[in-house]
Amino acid sequence: MPSMRPLDRLAKAVSPVLSPLAKPLTTPLTPQDFLSLINPLSSARQLRGVVTSVVPETTDTATIHFRPGHGWDPHMAGQWARVGVEIDGVRHWRSYSLTTAAGEDPAITVHAEGLVSDSLVQRTRPGDVLHLDVPQGDFVLPEHPRPLLMLTAGSGLTPVMSMIRTLVGRRDDADVVLVHSSRSAEDALFAEELAELSTAHPGLRVVHWYSGERGRIDLTSTDTLDELCPDWPSRAAYACGPPEMLDAAERLWHDADARHSLVIERFAPVVLDGQGGEGGVVTFLRSDREIEVDGSTTLLEAAESAGVMMPSGCRMGICHTCLTPLRAGKVRDLRTGEVHGDEGQSIQTCVSAAAGPCHLEI
Ligand SMILES: Cc1cc2nc3c(=O)[nH]c(=O)nc-3n(C[C@H](O)[C@H](O)[C@H](O)COP(=O)(O)OP(=O)(O)OC[C@H]3O[C@@H](n4cnc5c(N)ncnc54)[C@H](O)[C@@H]3O)c2cc1C
Ligand code: FES
Repeated sequence: MPSMRPLDRLAKAVSPVLSPLAKPLTTPLTPQDFLSLINPLSSARQLRGVVTSVVPETTDTATIHFRPGHGWDPHMAGQWARVGVEIDGVRHWRSYSLTTAAGEDPAITVHAEGLVSDSLVQRTRPGDVLHLDVPQGDFVLPEHPRPLLMLTAGSGLTPVMSMIRTLVGRRDDADVVLVHSSRSAEDALFAEELAELSTAHPGLRVVHWYSGERGRIDLTSTDTLDELCPDWPSRAAYACGPPEMLDAAERLWHDADARHSLVIERFAPVVLDGQGGEGGVVTFLRSDREIEVDGSTTLLEAAESAGVMMPSGCRMGICHTCLTPLRAGKVRDLRTGEVHGDEGQSIQTCVSAAAGPCHLEI
């Protein structure tokens, strides 16, 4: 856990004294809100972190280091956390892998490619406050790692970087081959540090693949992997990158009868091709809004385009933060194609689309 800084100590020390006195003075703010003016990390209601530094990595990627407040759990290498950012007065949540080694203060490395990531990369400054949720996820190092193959592309390197930083240099038996694809040498994340680590530690071999020169890594046959890492079938493999790469890796390991050796981290849900159904008019009852959408637009995206404040987290069907009660109509699960919907049923809006007109209680 991070050590307690002077402001934390002050907030903790005055809290029992101030709380009873402050209550009548601060309504509707609570004493905790009042204390969070002294120390933004002291809120008991919402986990937060203060940005300590922002380090540019490539032209459109930056690493944001932060000091989490009370309630944060130390992360395991490879885990991710939900991060909430205020943009134009609205708080948006997205998930980001934690890139530092286990046991160190956390950081996220963000590639600017949309609303929240652009804001994080371009506007975050030391001293800013991030809203947080505790680290989670199963894409983590095994307790006794056997020889490893890490297969990553683009920002998919982020969880694996935490694993490499945790393992290499700390364990004599580390045996890691990293095959990382980026568009060009300039786009390759953490390239300098990886070069230093592999020079210092023979247990790490780094293979850069530049798709701008060679095209994407071909995983339709074993030829490329045989060339880059000949003993790949005997290694425990961890893969993170764009959906097409992960789908191809799944097929390759499956055909090689080694699917059990491959662990995959996805940044987006697997949706079935052609599962977009009829769509329909979606009504957001409490917000008094409605919007007509096609059958492949998620209810979460529909709500956000209609200006409805929606809870969300991973946006890929794993965290359940987006559950919203259905009041009428049917929805389609874009991962399975299943159409369902009973009145009052909680819907995962990030992976569901309208299947005809439907009403949501929000
Ligand atoms: C477990 C997990 C871990 C993750 N870890 C990381 C990480 O370490 N680093 C990281 O950078 N991301 C990570 N992500 C992805 C991250 O959560 C966000 O999805 C990502 O930053 C995009 O969010 P956004 O708000 O910027 O994009 P949104 O505005 O939500 O847009 C979503 C997608 O739409 C596309 N898009 C947006 N605007 C346009 C446009 N104008 N034209 C064309 N396409 C567009 C982009 O491809 C974008 O990815 C992770 C996701 C998960 C689920
Ligand atoms: S936002 Fe995580 S399950 Fe929908």
